[in-house]
Amino acid sequence: MKQIIELIELEIAKAFEQAGYGKELAKVTISNRPDLCEYQCNGAMAGAKTYHKAPIMIAEDVVAHLQGSDCFAKAEAVKPGFINLNLKEEFVADYVNQMAEDDNLGLEQAENPEMIVIDYGGPNVAKPLHVGHLRSAVIGESVKRMFRKMGHKVLGDIHLGDWGYQMGLIITELKKRKPELPYYDESYTGDYPEEAPFTISELEEIYPTASGYAKEHEDYREEALHATYLLQNGHRGYRALWNHIVNISVDDIKKNYQRLNVEFDLWKGESDAQKYIPDMLEQFKKDGFARLDDGALVIDVKEETDTKEIPPCLIQKSDGASLYGTTDLATLIQREEDYKPNRVVYLADKRQEMHFTQVFRAAKKTGIVPASTELKFIGFGTMNGKDGKPFKTREGGVMRLENLIAEINQKMYQKITDNRTIEGAEAEEVAQKVGLAALKYGDLSNQAGKDYVFDIDRFTSFEGNTGPYILYTIVRIKSILNKYKENGGVTEDIHCNIPSADCEKALMLEVGKYNAVMKTAAMETAPHKICAYIYDLANVFNRFYHETKILAEEDEAKKAGYIALLTLTKEVLESCIDVLGFEAPERM
Ligand code: ARG
Repeated sequence: MKQIIELIELEIAKAFEQAGYGKELAKVTISNRPDLCEYQCNGAMAGAKTYHKAPIMIAEDVVAHLQGSDCFAKAEAVKPGFINLNLKEEFVADYVNQMAEDDNLGLEQAENPEMIVIDYGGPNVAKPLHVGHLRSAVIGESVKRMFRKMGHKVLGDIHLGDWGYQMGLIITELKKRKPELPYYDESYTGDYPEEAPFTISELEEIYPTASGYAKEHEDYREEALHATYLLQNGHRGYRALWNHIVNISVDDIKKNYQRLNVEFDLWKGESDAQKYIPDMLEQFKKDGFARLDDGALVIDVKEETDTKEIPPCLIQKSDGASLYGTTDLATLIQREEDYKPNRVVYLADKRQEMHFTQVFRAAKKTGIVPASTELKFIGFGTMNGKDGKPFKTREGGVMRLENLIAEINQKMYQKITDNRTIEGAEAEEVAQKVGLAALKYGDLSNQAGKDYVFDIDRFTSFEGNTGPYILYTIVRIKSILNKYKENGGVTEDIHCNIPSADCEKALMLEVGKYNAVMKTAAMETAPHKICAYIYDLANVFNRFYHETKILAEEDEAKKAGYIALLTLTKEVLESCIDVLGFEAPERM
């Protein structure tokens, strides 16, 4: 379906032409003075110069052609040259009724669906997930769902950090602690045990211990680097140990992401890119893209129009080791071979921006990806504590993701059981749903690039611009709909009324913005725009709810019209929170 604003623009464009002006002036926006009108067009001002006329005269000419339109209840020229517009009640009702009948609530599907890979999450194997991984997962999941909603084919890839120095560290520490294991001896040809020689909690303790120790002890660090090298160059026993580390870790990572309602289609990692590296480097050298710089191999990615220094992309250290950029380039080769994406979107901390600029340029320059492929980096800011510094535990340590989730669920459980009738297992389930909404909405309602403060009291509040407030609104609608049905109300073949009250029309107008908002949010990969929209929609709905006797309405036809509008409002809200990656309980 066309967006309301597009329909209005078509009408206005007609009027501009009929009045003898160019239709390109017919740009319409939502009014910034809702007390005066619903929509406005400022085209008359823009046209003044071209037509050597006072804007108000142009506006009056145009408005004269809008009288009697099916679209507008009011079209008014206002000094110095605004055109103020109010829609006809019939037009608005008709629009939302069409939305209700459409499978996609009026959202047009992409004309040319793209193949899009989203690289998000990016946890590192053997290191516990911390809140830094939260943003990547939460924003990436939402971006993925937005693209899907628009009809694109999307693959979410977790891109595990499973190949680096941390692996060498763990192997070195295990060798020290459990020298009796058969994994270290390169000449060993027997089988390796099927069971991992450690548990997840051991693993999580081993890594930081080893990492701390390596910082103080040069020879230990050397050993870990060498172990990393051996692993990457085919040491059988290390590879077997690596398998154990990855499997145990991935099980744990899966559990964490499940709690977050985050689902990946691909569980690939940096290790999967390795087999492409030797040929890739050879090719770069052959094609003259790579040059030696102080023993290291680099690709120049500077461009003439740069206003800041963009250093070369490093692809091989002088000791032969590959780097972060090498892996990302090789991963692009793998993605090109397997999926031929039109777009690849990366989610990572915004401090990684330079890295992605270098990688994208190198990928284009060397022809790894075609020029038409869009490579996009979405860099996110830091989640801070109330002190404005990166979020920590009360003791000042790094907060683990699962503890953060547990804390928010705990708080939600308290709230829900305190003054409500829900208890036991249901309360727990509800607390999880609402807790997740609090967490995700708290994050997604901010523009991704900005830092934000994690404020558990505010995020879990049932009032204000929060996830629980949105859910509460949906639950309120569900409960009205249920009561209506329990009392024998019919839900088939009902349609929204031609609105008779301001608050009813306002709700329809807000519901009617759904397709425009979703499209813009997807185009700009901006989940915060969906949050802003559902907050407005929830407010407009709640105003309608307080000003209208819905179930008590005596006119059955009118009541059914309200129910149709409530149903549509609920569907729009649910579609939006689905894109944000959470869902509403039945009651709360
Ligand atoms: N594992 C990385 C980290 O923890 C994030 C990976 C981002 N994705 C990528 N393709 N580089 O910082």
